[in-house]
This record gives sequence, C-alpha cells and structure tokens, in this order.
Amino acid sequence: MTSREQALALDALDPLGTLREHFALPPGVIYLDGNSLGALPKATPARLARAVQQEWGDGLIASWNNAGWINMPRRLGDRLAPWIGAQPGEVLVGDSTSINLYKVLHAALQMQPPGRRVVVSERSNFPTDLYIAQSVVSDHGGELVLADAPEDIPALLDARCAVLMLTHVNYRSGRMHDMAALTRLAHEAGALALWDLCHSAGAVPVDLRGADADFAIGCSYKYLNGGPGAPAFVWMHPSHAGRARQPLTGWLGHAAPFEFGTHYRPADGIQQFQCGTPAVLAMTALDASLDVFDLARKLGGMAALRAKSLALTEAFIAAVDTHVPSASLQSPREAALRGSQVSIALPAEVDGYAVMQALISRGVVGDFRAGEPGLLRFGFTPLYTRHVDVVDAVALLVDVLATESWRTPEFQRRSAVT
Ligand SMILES: Cc1ncc(COP(=O)(O)O)c(C=O)c1O
Repeated sequence: MTSREQALALDALDPLGTLREHFALPPGVIYLDGNSLGALPKATPARLARAVQQEWGDGLIASWNNAGWINMPRRLGDRLAPWIGAQPGEVLVGDSTSINLYKVLHAALQMQPPGRRVVVSERSNFPTDLYIAQSVVSDHGGELVLADAPEDIPALLDARCAVLMLTHVNYRSGRMHDMAALTRLAHEAGALALWDLCHSAGAVPVDLRGADADFAIGCSYKYLNGGPGAPAFVWMHPSHAGRARQPLTGWLGHAAPFEFGTHYRPADGIQQFQCGTPAVLAMTALDASLDVFDLARKLGGMAALRAKSLALTEAFIAAVDTHVPSASLQSPREAALRGSQVSIALPAEVDGYAVMQALISRGVVGDFRAGEPGLLRFGFTPLYTRHVDVVDAVALLVDVLATESWRTPEFQRRSAVT
C-alpha cells in the first residue's frame, strides 16, 4: 500500500504529470468522476470564445467553408481514430451515442439474412443501449437476448444471432471485455460485433481494426473531456462500406448534399452516418480537448495512459482493502479485466448515496449508481489524476465512515442526477 510520501514521489516521477496543468480543476477538489464528465481543459474557453466571436461573429456563414466547420465531423473523427485503433477516414463525430447506436444497430441487422434477427447483449449493459436495441429489434421483428454474466455470452452466439452488441467497459463495474476474443466468437457464429466505447475511448487501449470489429460508437464527454453533451462518434469497418445502410437518411449523409436532389443517395463509407448539420460549438470544445491527447501521445501515448491508470486503480483498491475492510470491491482485481474506474459497495446499513454526498462535500467527487448493490464509483482519468489524490480520497472516505457524517440529513436528499 502506498503512503502519502510514496504517492508524492510517484507523482514527481510521473511521465504524464505535466498534463494535469492543462486542466482547470478547482482547487481543493479531487475529481474522480471523469468517467462520467471529463474535466475542463484550460484551452477550451478561449477556443470557444474564438469560435463564437471570430468564426461566427465576424465570419458569419462563410465560416462553414473558411473555418472548416463543414469538415469538422470527419476531421475530429480522424483525430480520434488513433485512440480507438481506427484509420483516418473511418470515424465520424456527431450526434449522441444513443442516436449513433440506433444507426449502426439498424444497419447491422439489415446486413444479416432474415433468419438472423437476435441481438445478444448483457443485462448489465447501460440502459440506453438496451432501450435502443429494444426499439430496433422490434422494428426488425427480432429479439434482444441478454446474458446474465460475461461467461454466458459465447453460448448465446448461435445461428439466430445477428449482432453481438456490447459495451467494452461496463459502466457499473468497470469490467472490460476481451474485444478481440468476443468479436472472433461472434464472427465464427456468423454474427456482427458492435462495441460501445463510452468508457473506453481515451482511457484504455482499443484496437477496433486489430479486433476486426464491425461497428463502434461512443461518447466524448467522459475520458475525452469534450464537455457536457459533447458529440459522440461512430465507426464502421471499411469493408462494410456500400453494404451497410443507416436509417436516419439526412441530407449530410447524401452523396452530394449541395445538389439538393429529391432522392436520397448515400455517401460513401462513414460519411453516410452523418445525419444533419454538425453542432459546431460542441465540436470546437472537443477539438480543444483533443490537443491534450496530442501532448499525451508525445509522452508515451496510450501505453503510458494505461500504465498510469492501472497504477492508480491498483493503489485505490489496495488502500480500500486496508482502510475500508467493510467495503466490497465490485470491479475486477485482475488488471487485464479492469477499465479506468473502481466501484465499491458498502454494507446494507450504510447509505452509499449519502456517503458519496458527504465525500463530495469534503472535495472528493465520485458518483453513486443505484442498484443491487448500490455502487460508489470512482473514475481515474490518467491525464489529470495524481497518486496523491488516491491516498487523500481514501483517507476522506475513511473519515466520512468513521464519523458517520453521511447521516447528516442534507446528504440523504436525492438530486435529479446522481
Ligand atoms: C455505455 C454508455 N452508453 C451510452 C451512454 C449515454 O449515451 P448518450 O450520450 O446518448 O446519452 C452512456 C452514458 O453514461 C454510457 O455509459
């Protein structure tokens, strides 16, 4: 277990340590919720101000061409591509994860013969994935089949299975699937593999092409720090170009949108997945945040980010084991199975939600997810989280539990967003 002095020494040696200076973190806050909403990069406000005042204010409509607004979905996709194992020209930024999932799941089901109409996923998948899948399978006369545990997935990949739809890193447990192995099993069964990378992009190694995946979607407001409601992304294996047809056939997915023709004709490749006008200001914020990833690439790239993320999560698990023995770990101990977050559950007589509110009041920001059991989630964004944050966060958790400060009525009040 790491002492505070050892943690400070590790931070002094951290090859990624300088990246924290690029974030506007409030003083006194230990931010462990980057798995929900990433922190604000310092450069973002000025970039947004420039986009508003110069590009929009002065440039007006000419900025669609002159400031490159119209190309942003592809240009940002190209910037994102190396972090998810995709090639330039394969990723498109825009819409939300939910909407992009609707598009790719629809397209994937349509690529399969009529006898294959089952979508296999996990009961613990993020609800929006399950809700969208319920709608798409009902449109196709199909069925959504849910595995209760990761080990149950292979047996569900049978001759009826059209698509294996999984979230790479689970939002509750932070457990990471073996993307390559499961994609291979899906293909052997004749199914396509679709991956939600919301909790992976920018946090863990992802190799879509190496895994031979078929479709992927994900958000940019978590580890990518694109800001609240930042645009999502969508990827399709290039071999599906020309065969996959997405259902939201808007004008900017047309082969020649400025011909303003009457009939829809899909653009080539991933461009077909663009529906309408890009959210330029939101994309500008993501553009600024991706600059920090350019710096991270020079400091060791994903290998360095992953090494630091694992060091942080290991240290947190060890400290909780030692100092909070009543907590039960709900994330994998095995590093290879762990994303960049750690979830713990507290004994039934302790109100986990209230504990998290008490912790937040002391400056340690994580979040709480209701369920059986309720989870305290702690995200460790390697770009800006320090080793000393781990030690201090656990010390404050110990104090909140020992003093029972969580019993204060204000900490029991539920807000709309937990
Ligand atoms: C795995 C996963 N998919 C999707 C979403 C949300 O999708 P959207 O951005 O469309 O709200 C989340 C949000 O936390 C998520 O964790």
